[in-house]
Amino acid sequence: MAWLSLSPPELLFFICCIHLFIYYFRYFVSSKHKQPTVPVCWPVVGMMPALIFNIHDLHAWATGILQVTGCNFFFSGGWFPGMKLFGTCDPLNIQHIFTSNFKNYPKGEEFTDIFDIVLGDGIFNSDGDVWRTQRVKMQQLITHSCFHAYVAKSSRDKVEKALLPFLAHAAKQGHAIDLQDVCLRFTFDIATKLVFGVDPNSLSIGLPTVPFARAMDDAMASVLFRHAMPVVIWKLLQKLNLGTEKKLANARKVIDRFVEETIEKRRAEKKETKQIEYCPDLLSSYIDDSETGQVDKFFWLLMQNPHVEEKILGELKSVPKSFTSDGMAIFNPEELTKLVYLHAALSEALRLYPPVPFEHKGVVKDDMLPSGFLATPGVKILISTYSMARMEGVWGKDCSEFKPERWISDNGKLKYEPSYKFLSFNTGPRTCLGKNMAFTQMKAAVAAVVYNFYFEVVEGHVITPKISIILQMKNGLMVKVKQRNVV
Ligand code: HEM
Repeated sequence: MAWLSLSPPELLFFICCIHLFIYYFRYFVSSKHKQPTVPVCWPVVGMMPALIFNIHDLHAWATGILQVTGCNFFFSGGWFPGMKLFGTCDPLNIQHIFTSNFKNYPKGEEFTDIFDIVLGDGIFNSDGDVWRTQRVKMQQLITHSCFHAYVAKSSRDKVEKALLPFLAHAAKQGHAIDLQDVCLRFTFDIATKLVFGVDPNSLSIGLPTVPFARAMDDAMASVLFRHAMPVVIWKLLQKLNLGTEKKLANARKVIDRFVEETIEKRRAEKKETKQIEYCPDLLSSYIDDSETGQVDKFFWLLMQNPHVEEKILGELKSVPKSFTSDGMAIFNPEELTKLVYLHAALSEALRLYPPVPFEHKGVVKDDMLPSGFLATPGVKILISTYSMARMEGVWGKDCSEFKPERWISDNGKLKYEPSYKFLSFNTGPRTCLGKNMAFTQMKAAVAAVVYNFYFEVVEGHVITPKISIILQMKNGLMVKVKQRNVV
């Protein structure tokens, strides 16, 4: 037989192809519409074929597995080094990893390697003393009252001068717009102004091309591939400047160019930055991380749940407001802090659609997790924030529903949920430092938009996830904008 004359590497390749073929057949032909199952662990390639075939819908796939395995799952990458993954969304494990035994679970060298090209050596990408020093510095900046006032004012200004006029124009024209793109531009402009003191005005009628945004998309997709690929493979691609690594290298050039040009612009303008100093840490961890551009999912949830929109509107009616020259209502961020239902609805949207859908931790030395899994050095721990929201054992039978009410207690006040359960802003010593600021920005945008407009999803528009480390919609969110007249 011809295959008997194959050399060992050829034989290995042949066996891999047969495995992939069988898997492909099982996945696409026989197991369509089946309940989620634990992936098959093949000789040599382990569970890699399953990962490759599901990468387009990674978070839903991982959720299915974690639902059937009870929140914990060990993924074997076969012979590939560095592909021993432990996936978890078990609150007890999370509390242990992020808080009780924090020191044993740094982000680790592999994380630094994976994110190096996007995050450099900023706060997001460092561990130990380097991280601690940056965190202290950043905390001083973010908790300063001037900083809060600056964020509140800049969010209000952007809503009044860019977001509302843009939507009013879209409503008048009657064209469909991509609401995800609008939200990303809104966040991008605020973040750039905050960090550099320069507003790129990417959210303006005509929607100018933003090469930086495209570059960030490419970078986020390539970084996800780095997570899913054995280290040796992506490092080889990087050396040869091929595939996703080529995309990533090009994206990095665009990002660097944008940062250099913006700093130059700032210098040229010679503006006095009284409220906030130029801060390179803030730059790398905030601008490079487009997590706040997430209110698009919120608006999508509102379109699916008009009763929630009604309740938010009801709450907004009682809030003092001012009016733009076009007669559109605008709110003061301080007034919005008191609104319980709006806060609950935003928390609920962030629970179901956390902008950072998974976290990554390394292991320093052997340690038994509360679930009974022995974590050893070399195992990569992936914590699925996205899956956590969909576990009945954690959030109850209605976990997959959008229900702001779950955040409100019987006395009408906001209910406390521990952060190892509501992981969207992380938990433990590395908790997000910008949580309050993010709520201020989201409320400023949502309140003004909901009060003045409503949206209808364009018929036939398909919502599918984008391959990225940030939760985003592949085809955007195409909507028609309608002006609302509140009585
Ligand atoms: C909806 C908006 C936001 C969400 C969902 C969010 C979520 C997160 C998450 C999940 C982390 C942990 C990341 C990791 O360790 O891998 C994080 C960290 C961080 N976030 Fe946010 N964030 C948001 C907005 C902001 C804003 C507006 C700022 C403002 C500057 C900010 C500043 C930070 C910083 C500095 C860290 C690093 C903390 C550390 O490692 O010690 N975040 N955030």
